[in-house]
Amino acid sequence: LEQSERESLFIALNFAKDFFVKNLDTPEGRSIGLSYFKERGFTPQIIQKFDLGYALDGWDHLMKAAKSAGFQEEILLKAGLILQKEGDPTRLYDRFRNRVTFTIHNISGKPIGFGARILTKDKNQPKYINSPETPIYHKSDVLYGMFQAKKAIRDQDNCYLVEGYTDVISMHLSGIENVVASSGTSLTDGQIKLIKRFTNQVTVLYDGDNAGIKASLRGIDLLLEGGLNVKAVVFPDGEDPDSFSRKVGSQAFHDYLQANSRDFIGFKIGLYKEEFAKDPIRKAEVIREVVQSIGKIPDPIIRSVYTKEASSLLEIEEGILLSELNKSLIKTQ
Ligand code: UTP
Ligand code: MN
Ligand code: MN
Ligand code: MN
Ligand code: MN
Repeated sequence: LEQSERESLFIALNFAKDFFVKNLDTPEGRSIGLSYFKERGFTPQIIQKFDLGYALDGWDHLMKAAKSAGFQEEILLKAGLILQKEGDPTRLYDRFRNRVTFTIHNISGKPIGFGARILTKDKNQPKYINSPETPIYHKSDVLYGMFQAKKAIRDQDNCYLVEGYTDVISMHLSGIENVVASSGTSLTDGQIKLIKRFTNQVTVLYDGDNAGIKASLRGIDLLLEGGLNVKAVVFPDGEDPDSFSRKVGSQAFHDYLQANSRDFIGFKIGLYKEEFAKDPIRKAEVIREVVQSIGKIPDPIIRSVYTKEASSLLEIEEGILLSELNKSLIKTQ
């Protein structure tokens, strides 16, 4: 029974994917959805590769089509495709309406959920509406784009980690395929394990705003704790990999990544170097920050390599770093 319910959910998600994809080829879909994607520089090939689609404007286009295809309401509800009206649970309506859709695939390429982007700048509605957690979509074990990226991650022995759906897609358009998105939430152990199936090296490319930098710092520590080698790149203020790659073009984007990849120590120093050049107290805080991150690394040999590097980059005796490091290691035991 368990197994057949999961199977029904997979079939329902695949039906919805096909429906959203086909909607792009209707008059409404072409004039609204397809032209939105075209404006963002998305090609027909990339639209197909990522199963991008369009949810029609209306309350029940998907529900009606799915019911005539024989799907039960109960399955559509469990699949997260339809919702019950508040106060009147017998009234059902489509979750995704009047938005472009990004299909979320599992690692073998089956659709398990959607992210759907608003087409206007209406600040009263969320920019993205996402599928809920379901029996086939465990968000904490999924990274957007992994199905399309896994081979390239293995080949390049590196995984770029970005925030958003469109960052993944624009990087593919720039010829970089080893990229997945955390979809704007904090990394989980399950997601880190997933990356480790393909590589031990992650390069964090979060948005160049305060939220993105904060999320990078958090993500870096989680990745270090997971035993991964971590690099990070900071983008100019207000840019993300999507906007920046389109602004400068793919060659300059490649060059920027090459020139600006720093290990986590260089990344942390870079964030604060203007402040701490003038302020020794600020420098002491950065040293403590760096030591705290080194303390997350499970392998003592790698810890010692980074302690040496920190000592030379921060111009502080290794012995002092080591005693500080021992304090932080004792605290976390
Ligand atoms: P961003 O706000 O950086 O959006 O959120 P974006 O990816 O750059 O999207 P565009 O370029 O404006 O279209 C990063 C990610 O956080 C999640 C999405 O996965 C998004 O891609 N997010 C963001 C949501 O789930 N809901 C939201 O309302 C906003
Ligand atoms: Mn779960
Ligand atoms: Mn952002
Ligand atoms: Mn962004
Ligand atoms: Mn963006």
